[in-house]
Amino acid sequence: MTGDELLAVADAAAANAYAPYSNYHVGAAALLHDGRVFTGVNVENAAYPLGVCAERTAIAKAASEGVRPGDVEAIAITASPCGGCRQWLHEWRFERVHFRRADGTVATYGADELLPETWDLPQK
Ligand code: THU
Repeated sequence: MTGDELLAVADAAAANAYAPYSNYHVGAAALLHDGRVFTGVNVENAAYPLGVCAERTAIAKAASEGVRPGDVEAIAITASPCGGCRQWLHEWRFERVHFRRADGTVATYGADELLPETWDLPQK
């Protein structure tokens, strides 16, 4: 699946975002090596900091079905991933991260490029 195709899945998922506070709907779609796709949306909360980003929702859905880092190939996000999500993308070692910039163009990076020389547990 191409980055554009995966981004189209993320765009469709964004319709389910629960974002009554920011009104900013984000969708994410994570592609596994076996072809499965897990989608996610941002889920906000009246206690603002407790909201969850779309890409973390997609990863948590996959993880709770038994998916592990190494099983994932690519993720598409309808917006640029925040700093905290970059740490999650790094943890899950996505080979390709596609996201739409504010100007509408699509960026593609490896998860490692989005958070170079990040902190990590030495024994992991
Ligand atoms: N948001 C995401 O879902 N992913 C990101 O990486 C950036 C931010 C969401 C969080 C919040 O619900 C909304 O965008 C506005 O910040």
